[in-house]
Amino acid sequence: MAMRTCQKIKTTVNVLGKFSLRDFSGVKNLKMSKWQEEKDKFLGMSLENKRELYKSYTQLKDIPTWQEYAKKESLAKKIAAKLDFTMDDSLNETLREKISLFQGDITKLEVDAIVNAANSSLMGGGGVDGAIHRAAGPLLLEECKSLRGCETGDAKISGGYKLPAKYVIHTVGPRGEKPGLLQNCYKNSLKIMLDKKLKSIAFPCISTGIYGYPIEPAAHVAISEVRKHLESHADEVERVIFCVFLPEDERVYEGALQSYFPVK
Ligand code: APR
Repeated sequence: MAMRTCQKIKTTVNVLGKFSLRDFSGVKNLKMSKWQEEKDKFLGMSLENKRELYKSYTQLKDIPTWQEYAKKESLAKKIAAKLDFTMDDSLNETLREKISLFQGDITKLEVDAIVNAANSSLMGGGGVDGAIHRAAGPLLLEECKSLRGCETGDAKISGGYKLPAKYVIHTVGPRGEKPGLLQNCYKNSLKIMLDKKLKSIAFPCISTGIYGYPIEPAAHVAISEVRKHLESHADEVERVIFCVFLPEDERVYEGALQSYFPVK
């Protein structure tokens, strides 16, 4: 009896021995590579082919810089800045061309990366998170599953898939007014932009929707972090777009932007 069992085990080992470890992990990777193949396909696509995929989009060249935007007579009155750093005013002229205030749907922006105001699971949600996942398609969620969540204040990058944007940078804002954590969302998203040598990025008003961060203090955190970043990396950036969704948020940003990117 024992002999027969040993023989059985030996045969089984022999059969299994023929499959290298690679084959088994290959089966697992086969499933994961679906999103990877699609991601590489979208990232390698020519602009004209990609444009056939998405219905409507806004090209970067059609988004006025803050310098151009600020010529509007009805600019909101300047909101007193709570500046926590001294600005290098000699850079103002250059930096006004590096930013934009855009009111509309971030999923339409044809830029290198749009930032998603996600939750720590990265499994999608409502608000801008829901809009981005809907526009990108189901493979975005597949890739997000491989990112294994995201801490509040941290940021992770994925492909953009069917979005006009090449990439999505997912960041998790704080619930309520916690400036240190919100600063980290902008800092870490801008760091990924730098590391990946991306030239254009659009931010929604992180944490100011479902997470309830009051828009004005959040705007000061967002804009001052971008100012700090541009003071050291202006020549590596083509454009940072503050993408507001609500008209009242546009008014707040108009006022706050004049404190950090003063216009004549
Ligand atoms: N384009 C640009 N901005 C948008 C869009 C859009 N399509 N949709 C919503 N917004 C704006 C909202 O008006 C708000 O100003 O994005 C900002 C952030 O709001 P939320 O999306 O509610 O994000 P947040 O407050 O950070 O809460 C995050 O909400 O969607 C869930 O999964 C997400 O649990 C997380 C939480």
